[in-house]
Amino acid sequence: MNITVIGAGNMGGALAKGWAKSMDMQQNKITVTARSQATLDRFTKEFPMIATTLDNKEAVKDADVVIIAVKPWLVDSVMESLNGCLDGKLIISVAANVRNASINVYAMPNIAAEFGESMSFILDNEDKEAVSKAAALFEKVGKVMVTDEKSMSAGNMMAGCGIAYVMRFIRAMQEGGVEMGLYPKVAQEVAMQTMQGAVTLLRETGLHPEAAIDKVTTPGGLTIKGLNELDHSGFNSSVVRCLKAGLK
Ligand SMILES: NC(=O)c1ccc[n+]([C@@H]2O[C@H](COP(=O)([O-])OP(=O)(O)OC[C@H]3O[C@@H](n4cnc5c(N)ncnc54)[C@H](OP(=O)(O)O)[C@@H]3O)[C@@H](O)[C@H]2O)c1
Repeated sequence: MNITVIGAGNMGGALAKGWAKSMDMQQNKITVTARSQATLDRFTKEFPMIATTLDNKEAVKDADVVIIAVKPWLVDSVMESLNGCLDGKLIISVAANVRNASINVYAMPNIAAEFGESMSFILDNEDKEAVSKAAALFEKVGKVMVTDEKSMSAGNMMAGCGIAYVMRFIRAMQEGGVEMGLYPKVAQEVAMQTMQGAVTLLRETGLHPEAAIDKVTTPGGLTIKGLNELDHSGFNSSVVRCLKAGLK
């Protein structure tokens, strides 16, 4: 399969790298484009097996799949510049909240795609073949949910943007750790491993988070004191408001 990613930035670059790691590069080809040669040079240095070019038209010539990963406000002009060059190809856009008649499938991955850990949403439509091809492609770089427009917006916020909110939580824990006397690197490692442990525990047990929390709270103990502090500061409400802030 020949995949071309138009826009090798944070998201397009993560996808290209994730696919390069998960696909047989003898059998498949990945090409990325950008606006500047500097971006492409950085890319080539890290991933020499990925082809690069500044020429979008040249890049899509032999492509089976074209991923549009430029900033949302550039999608229409990029699509217009490729007018007549995209026939018969599967065109997938990852740009948030942009719709364009020439795009076959809308996807919302996150930058953990580089490490095969994206949570990606694919917007369902009548072209079932295109949707299922797109889903199979994004499954190579993480988990995929094929969904309707309403859930897609939730997916945008929870997964596409959500990875940043999770990182903010890790950073907050890190800062707390530093205030209590840990070095930043140590505090970050503790925060990350604690988060990873919580995720593994929920996955392995299938428990609701609140049921798992009950296992950690001793009556009159330390954990409940911290949990109640979170409640007093409106933690749950802040998270819900944060997720809803970007809804259309
Ligand atoms: N970042 C995320 O976590 C994330 C998650 C989900 C979806 N998205 C979506 O992904 C899209 C890209 O976001 P991003 O954060 O990856 O932005 P970004 O880091 O700025 O990357 C955009 C890339 O597009 C390139 N570019 C600009 N104009 C171009 C053109 N005419 N032809 C080819 N390439 C061009 C830029 O090249 P230069 O580097 O040379 O300037 C840059 O590499 C957005 O639509 C966003 O909604 C992002």
